[in-house]
Amino acid sequence: MNLGFWKFPDQVVRLAILFALAIAGLIWVRHEFVPESFGERGHYRLDAIDAVAATETHYAGRQVCVECHDEPGEVVSSSYHRTLSCEVCHGPASRHVEDPDTFKPEIPRRRGRACLYCHEYLPSRPTGFPQILERQHNPMEACITCHDPHDPTPPETPGSCGACHGQIASTKAVSHHGTLECSTCHTTAPEHSVNPRAARPSKPSQRSFCGRCHATGASSSAEIPRVDLDSHGDRYLCWQCHYPHHPEG
Ligand code: HEC
Ligand code: HEC
Ligand code: HEC
Ligand code: HEC
Ligand code: HEC
Ligand code: HEC
Ligand code: HEC
Ligand code: HEC
Repeated sequence: MNLGFWKFPDQVVRLAILFALAIAGLIWVRHEFVPESFGERGHYRLDAIDAVAATETHYAGRQVCVECHDEPGEVVSSSYHRTLSCEVCHGPASRHVEDPDTFKPEIPRRRGRACLYCHEYLPSRPTGFPQILERQHNPMEACITCHDPHDPTPPETPGSCGACHGQIASTKAVSHHGTLECSTCHTTAPEHSVNPRAARPSKPSQRSFCGRCHATGASSSAEIPRVDLDSHGDRYLCWQCHYPHHPEG
């Protein structure tokens, strides 16, 4: 192109036109699309404050709940769950507050997210925070059959083996092995009483285990009937012939 005195190469002119269009576009966008109140008090839209304030609230807050529900209020506030909001479990309930008879908050009675959201094991939770492995912790049962959601003290762990193995305990009690503790033959971690299938007790696995008391040469008291381990019962395990919880000779 030739503008008399100045000569511009064509590609520069094309670029200049593109630039001019881009700048015009920007000015247009700034006019059309940037909201009115933007920048009045800083780099944000001032009207946003009113807009947010006008949205409907969904949560009422615990102070409001306990005005009508003083009993759960008191129980929760002295429990392990004292820091929890009621609505973390019962869901957003501000409509219930306005009209308690029409809108009922949810009651999470079934086993599920309501409890596991906080208690399912996650490595990132603080150490010491009570956590469980959902698959292993009393599977299939609703959490609230054992834990009061408003006062979740862990229930007493069943003390004796017989609390769960009643049949075996009462059979053994009237047998020749009545005086033997379960722990004589089973090593049991305390965890077993809480998560039975996660922590399995040991079981005797060899003939020589019974031989500790019953072998002819065994060093225990003379009252115990003896057998020759090499010939008696041959190559079978002792408990293939003798029920260990009620042995008969
Ligand atoms: C203005 C009083 C009032 C307030 C505030 C209130 N409730 Fe209620 N709530 C009631 C009444 C009344 C009932 C119905 C009782 C009934 O049906 O026997 C009820 C029932 C419930 C129930 C049982 C629902 C059912 O299906 O049985 C739950 C759970 C509950 N409220 C939780 C809350 C929570 C959480 C809050 C706080 C966000 C709250 N309430 C605030 C009055 C109130
Ligand atoms: C950890 C979860 C959790 C929290 C926190 C919680 N609740 Fe509950 N709430 C439950 C569950 C689960 C039930 C059902 C209990 C049942 O059926 O045995 C229930 C039952 C209720 C009921 C109806 C039955 C009853 O006991 O009368 C009311 C009302 C109630 N909760 C109010 C509240 C209020 C108020 C708060 C806060 C102070 C609160 N809850 C905090 C889980 C929770
Ligand atoms: C919003 C998180 C949250 C939810 C949801 C929640 N919990 Fe908790 N839970 C806690 C906190 C926090 C503690 C107290 C931990 C502490 O004191 O170190 C606690 C403590 C407990 C404890 C006591 C553990 C102990 O070491 O003594 C049990 C049991 C428990 N919760 C069961 C439940 C059950 C059942 C539910 C469902 C109905 C539930 N939790 C729902 C946060 C939650
Ligand atoms: C069959 C009864 C039973 C059921 C069902 C049950 N628990 Fe437990 N839970 C227990 C017992 C017993 C303990 C006490 C264990 C102990 O010695 O710390 C316990 C302990 C806990 C603890 C404390 C763990 C810790 O390390 O301090 C939490 C949290 C817990 N349970 C949450 C739950 C949740 C969530 C559910 C539902 C998914 C649930 N429980 C279902 C019986 C039950
Ligand atoms: C909370 C209930 C409970 C308590 C308490 C309990 N157990 Fe168990 N035990 C179980 C359950 C459930 C199983 C698994 C049964 C199955 O999987 O068929 C089991 C399994 C066993 C097994 C078989 C393990 C295997 O791999 O076959 C032995 C042995 C045993 N328990 C011994 C004991 C002894 C000893 C005690 C007392 C120190 C005890 N248990 C206390 C519930 C309990
Ligand atoms: C003299 C040793 C001895 C004593 C004492 C003993 N057990 Fe056993 N128990 C065994 C042996 C051996 C087996 C393995 C049986 C098999 O594998 O067939 C066994 C198996 C078991 C099993 C799994 C198989 C079944 O029968 O269900 C359970 C559960 C069990 N014992 C619980 C107990 C409890 C609870 C006590 C105490 C009340 C107890 N045992 C006392 C030796 C003993
Ligand atoms: C093939 C089945 C079989 C096996 C395996 C077996 N027994 Fe016996 N056991 C018997 C029979 C049958 C009797 C009763 C007749 C007898 O005294 O030979 C008996 C008797 C006994 C008696 C009573 C002896 C007396 O004098 O009253 C003891 C103790 C005994 N067995 C221990 C064991 C021990 C320990 C083992 C494992 C090392 C074992 N048995 C393996 C079948 C068996
Ligand atoms: C800690 C020592 C001890 C161990 C281990 C032991 N027993 Fe015994 N056993 C005894 C005592 C004590 C008696 C009862 C003696 C009596 O009634 O006078 C007995 C009795 C018996 C009898 C009954 C004998 C009769 O007179 O009818 C048989 C069979 C037997 N045990 C088999 C076993 C088997 C099988 C095992 C391995 C699973 C085993 N015992 C492990 C101490 C033990």
